[in-house]
Amino acid sequence: MTEDPVALPLRCPDALRGAVAALATGPLELRALVAFASTLRVDAALCAALRRPDPARPYGRRVLFANPHLEAMVATWTPGQACAVHDHGQAFGVITVLEGEGEERRYALRAGALAQTQARALAAGDRLTAGPGLLHAMGSTAPGAGTTLLTLHLYTPSIEDMVVYEDDVTYIVDGGCGAWVPRDTPAQIRARRPGIWPRAALPLA
Ligand SMILES: [Fe+2]
Repeated sequence: MTEDPVALPLRCPDALRGAVAALATGPLELRALVAFASTLRVDAALCAALRRPDPARPYGRRVLFANPHLEAMVATWTPGQACAVHDHGQAFGVITVLEGEGEERRYALRAGALAQTQARALAAGDRLTAGPGLLHAMGSTAPGAGTTLLTLHLYTPSIEDMVVYEDDVTYIVDGGCGAWVPRDTPAQIRARRPGIWPRAALPLA
């Protein structure tokens, strides 16, 4: 019997990229992403090779692969920081915790404000799913640069744009941006409206 190569430990970022590329040949459903993520074996050596810290951001954003059907991104979380509350546009996604500890908080819009609805601790091996309409934020809760939160994000289709909330302002940012307001690359801000608004209230909706 031939072993599934994806079920074996992946040896380098290129091997992970290749496995993702093999999946991304056409439209995908969330359950296919979840099934794929459940077969991945990412050991400590590969985690070390995948890390790409960016201390100036909530996380270092390393896009391993992207085509119209699938985007694979590794987030190396900055110790003690959380990203902005955001959605994922029309994309569905599965997020796998590869290493470290963190937290996810989910939100709903109520009476023009963000209300937290859930919070959960994250540890290696945990998996989250996301879909259109989900508002959440994640962050690293453990200090220590070597073991802080490392997550693998798979989205289908690739994220076109995201709603991001920060300082009581609603933004739509380019899908090539992370879950923050890209003040140093303002061309990535597609829309901005003071206050907390649903996606449908912004001009690009
Ligand atoms: Fe997210």
